Amino acid sequence: MGCITDFFTYETTKSVVVKSWTIGVINRAVQLLIITYFVCWVFLHEKAYQIRDSSIESSVMTKVKGVGRYSKRVMDVADYVIPPQGSSVFVILTKLITTPDQVQDHCPESDEKYRCTTDSICTRNKPTSNGFLTGRCVSSFCQIQGWCPTENDTVQMPLLMEAENFTIFVKNSVRFPLFDFEKGNLPSSLKCLYHPEKNAFCPIFKLGDIVKYAGQNFTTLADKGGVLSIKIGWMCDLDKSWDLCIPHYSFTRLDSVSEKNNVSQGYNFRFARYFMSADGKEFRTLIKAFGIRIDVLVYGNAGKFNIIPTLINIVAAFTSVGVGTVLCDIILLNFLKGADQYKAKKFEEVRLKKDKGSSSSTTRETNISQI
Ligand SMILES: *[C@@H]1O[C@H](CO)[C@@H](O)[C@H](O)[C@H]1NC(C)=O
Repeated sequence: MGCITDFFTYETTKSVVVKSWTIGVINRAVQLLIITYFVCWVFLHEKAYQIRDSSIESSVMTKVKGVGRYSKRVMDVADYVIPPQGSSVFVILTKLITTPDQVQDHCPESDEKYRCTTDSICTRNKPTSNGFLTGRCVSSFCQIQGWCPTENDTVQMPLLMEAENFTIFVKNSVRFPLFDFEKGNLPSSLKCLYHPEKNAFCPIFKLGDIVKYAGQNFTTLADKGGVLSIKIGWMCDLDKSWDLCIPHYSFTRLDSVSEKNNVSQGYNFRFARYFMSADGKEFRTLIKAFGIRIDVLVYGNAGKFNIIPTLINIVAAFTSVGVGTVLCDIILLNFLKGADQYKAKKFEEVRLKKDKGSSSSTTRETNISQI
């Protein structure tokens, strides 16, 4: 029975005005803090009155320039840039281990693992990194069938040091589909070289500078190979002028994990160039290439004023001002002098009497003055 009467009750809000300096100051201070937070951070800094488009569409074209000397020949762009299409990911070769005049033949394997004294350990048809074993032991190495002679990649090769002075030109155009806004990264003149302070909008970068800005050492990177990124950031406020939507460049090393790792350090890959001799025999030059790979990454977002997020955030701001009440209540009912009195005034139970009693009015205001 008691449960049921407890359930069928109604709670209504009653205003209790507390005339206390302490709680009054706390209340206004909390409200001021919340309003300041919304105005300064949410609206002015985070621009909550805008809608944002972060689905940036972008195209990147690159062009490398420069020549260098490498093992008695001059290398130009066609020799050291792979792939040649000018895409956003490309490699500038800095060290080459070449194995010329390979033909399909039988020859001894170069790997120490296949050192032998008798035919018995050279299992016939077993694959190695260079070909298939023939089952014979020739000149203290197992013989293979494949491209011969096999590569010896333990030789010391020089570096293409001039690569430090090669320049990379990056052409980037972006579009924000939500606002149908397009822009490119080209300044009025291209007679320039990127510098973070003096020439921050020039899209021509020296490879040595990129390595330096990414915090790397050029010689080590060129020797082992590695992956660097040119990041282009577009943070645009489309409520402001068109000229103020500008790219920001930054540089990092992307494969820094592989650098710290002892296995598989750096970046290298193999490719071959094929030739045909006059008598119709095919031969090739195998190249193990070490290089600096550049990935051009584009990111960004654009914002523009819109009434819907503005309204939502204004409502959120007003609602949040009420949060101050919760804090003041906690202080008022627990920590302030005379808390018991406040409690008694705040929580009041009202029972309707049969006769025309005085306590039937539930909206009465109670004024409490601090003792
Ligand atoms: C790069 O260019 C500078 C200035 O032109 C020159 O002093 C330097 O020797 C060059 N570096 C290499 C590795 O050729």
